[in-house]
Amino acid sequence: MLNEQDIQLLRAQFPILNRQVYDRPLIYLDNAASSLKLTAVWQAEEQLARDYYGNIHRGAHFMADKATAEFENTRTSVRNFINAQSDSEIIFTKGSTESINLVAYSFGEAFVSAGDEIVVSEMEHHANIVPWQLMATRKGAAIRVLPFDDSGRLMTEQLDALLTPRTRLIAVAHVSNTLGTVNPIADIISMAHRRNVRVLVDGAQMIAHKPVDVQALDADFYVFSGHKMYGPNGVGILYGKKELLEQMPPYQGGGEMIEQVSFANTTFNRLPYKFEAGTPNISGTIALGEAVKFLMSPQRQAWLAHENTLLTYATKKLSEISGLRIYGQQPEKAGVISFNIDGVHPYDLAVLLDKMGVATRSGRLCADPVMTHFGVTAMLRISFALYNTRSEIDSFIEILRKVREML
Ligand code: ALA
Repeated sequence: MLNEQDIQLLRAQFPILNRQVYDRPLIYLDNAASSLKLTAVWQAEEQLARDYYGNIHRGAHFMADKATAEFENTRTSVRNFINAQSDSEIIFTKGSTESINLVAYSFGEAFVSAGDEIVVSEMEHHANIVPWQLMATRKGAAIRVLPFDDSGRLMTEQLDALLTPRTRLIAVAHVSNTLGTVNPIADIISMAHRRNVRVLVDGAQMIAHKPVDVQALDADFYVFSGHKMYGPNGVGILYGKKELLEQMPPYQGGGEMIEQVSFANTTFNRLPYKFEAGTPNISGTIALGEAVKFLMSPQRQAWLAHENTLLTYATKKLSEISGLRIYGQQPEKAGVISFNIDGVHPYDLAVLLDKMGVATRSGRLCADPVMTHFGVTAMLRISFALYNTRSEIDSFIEILRKVREML
């Protein structure tokens, strides 16, 4: 367990936590939207700009060579971080959203025909719904929905009946960005694989919270973003099994993704470059390596236990407030608590909380089907990171009680 000194040392790596907003200490509880950036991350970006900037995989000069080596080092770090089999299974994108769009397009082109089906869970973020809808429209395929119950549990007992000989892929979040449920991904994947169905896991809300091993899960595709793991925004990761990626056509054309170009016949580069057209986010990707290093710290288990304590503590304190309903009550949750208070609009709450220094998120949380499920138009969400503290939660609860009285 972390002691006070450990927490202070951790917080010291995020100096932005010391700032004030509206003359009040910042309490940052919007980590599921974007976590704050580790000092080593922005320093790595600064160092690149100051010391050795150059375009990667193209130049034949010292600066370009050094940038290329650092970029590829990050690929290897990410591979180790999620235990992928090879660097060629790690594709850099601009975020989880782009990673999913890439798979929806390229997997769709390679493996989906008219009349085929894709299963998407009801608790998905829009980024794991709309790309499949676009692909389904293009290919004449259909979307089937795996529902969740009122406690926020995915009804996996219905999965077998949903899968048909036409099902090609299941798209599911490892952790729901709204309900916080940690879904039983390994079970879903083994059920899918028994029926020869592929699985894409949206790990955006998982990656900072618990260790991920893509080989142990046997995931076909796993996506996440740098900016939700104390790293840079504008960098995403797509992990894909090599045998699948090799059969999938490129998503975008441009420099770097080609082997040779002619007007008669263009051929494509090998993995992972086939999916990395154009100049990528060089500095962000290199800086991501620092976030990975941080999350691979031997202290990680203790950090995660601390985060879990915060979640349990905040859930208990919120439950004591009359008229407050928490959406998502599963025993296995990570990172987020979404709720509403009777008679109060979550947006009004969020605005007043902000004026008291508390950053939260309110609205549809990029998950309209979840709002529809519960018959609401919006929710208020708080979300934790390993640098949050019990006393921040106490202050938040006190402020929330005050603000509620104002409304
Ligand atoms: N996907 C982010 C969220 O859930 C933006 O808030």
